[in-house]
Amino acid sequence: MEYKRISVSASGSYEIVIGNDLLGKTADYVKSVAKTQTFAVITDDTVDSFYGEKVCQSLSAAGCNICKYVFPHGEESKCSDTLMKIYSFLCQNHISRTDCLIALGGGVVGDITGYAAATFLRGLDFIQIPTTLLAQVDSSVGGKTAIDIPEGKNLVGAFKQPRLVLCDTDTLNTLPEEFIIDGMGEVVKYGMIKSAPLFELLETRTLGDIKEIAESIIEQCVSIKRDVVEADEFDKGERMLLNFGHTLAHSIEQYYNYTGITHGKAVAAGMRMITDIAEKKGYSESGLCDRLTACLERYKLNVRVEPTVPQLANACLNDKKRTSGSISIVICSEVGKSRTVKMPVDDFLKFLTEE
Ligand code: NAD
Ligand code: GLY
Repeated sequence: MEYKRISVSASGSYEIVIGNDLLGKTADYVKSVAKTQTFAVITDDTVDSFYGEKVCQSLSAAGCNICKYVFPHGEESKCSDTLMKIYSFLCQNHISRTDCLIALGGGVVGDITGYAAATFLRGLDFIQIPTTLLAQVDSSVGGKTAIDIPEGKNLVGAFKQPRLVLCDTDTLNTLPEEFIIDGMGEVVKYGMIKSAPLFELLETRTLGDIKEIAESIIEQCVSIKRDVVEADEFDKGERMLLNFGHTLAHSIEQYYNYTGITHGKAVAAGMRMITDIAEKKGYSESGLCDRLTACLERYKLNVRVEPTVPQLANACLNDKKRTSGSISIVICSEVGKSRTVKMPVDDFLKFLTEE
């Protein structure tokens, strides 16, 4: 079978392979890039129950040595405690610098495994096998890895590109609808920031169509992300565009203590809020916020959040896009066109709060 392949050329070069029925062929792809026969598979309990055996069987049948570490699913596991347990597990299994980690799961597994790969023994290779829509369209590509600490999400991390990304769209068949909805928040974001054709496609489809067109959507999103990451791997300029809606989204997530709202829904609300303000202040074309809202509603992302923008404004100052005296916000002038606007912190607060 012919799979879609996208090459990324950053501090590490790698391919993203997209298609169905890929997990059973894990060993063929993994062995073509790995320098080792020894792999540590890191996954969560839910993903393990669906796909752990398939991936491990493919690797064992090809003569690889494998060990597997399984942690409880959920964002709460993306923490230093799980990370320490992963390090101990790697030591107990004599994983060396030339061996390779495999992240099998959603963004939580990908982020923490990537961070373990960036830091254990000062760095070893890792491979991403994303199993959620969000991880397939976004988090498995580009090399941002992190854990959460009590003071905030993703505050400890590293840039570490994977050696390969294997996107098996069949895994979406077991993914609960709430996580498909969540991933769609990021998909709509890609249309808004960089691709009118993607956005227009989304305007003609609904949630029920997504599994059917997943390959094409994933290909479009990761192609956009690849271009952005190749232009600005270390997040100094262009890459900030990927955070459209995220400054307010992070404040919304914080307001709900990271438990009352999922990331994709918070991003949807954040994109709508910033576009509403940008339109009123003449940065975005007239009607853009209504168009965005209508598109989000097709994917059950018609989120109304409790906090108002002025209530969220101060928490926005913790954003990673803040430098000492100023902050960059991402604005879409029209569908498919985005830019960052850097402003002093006081102006930013006025931008958010003054009618
Ligand atoms: P997740 O990894 O928690 O997965 C969501 C849930 O789906 C989990 O309960 C998981 O066990 C389950 N699951 C995963 N695959 C499944 C499948 N195929 N079938 C059934 N159940 C399945 O969450 P997520 O939404 O994938 O990722 C969110 C994380 O990604 C956050 O921590 C966020 O910070 C991070 N993120 C990182 C980046 C990046 O660039 N590194 C970008 C966006 C988001
Ligand atoms: N998800 C944002 C980034 O990778 O930069």
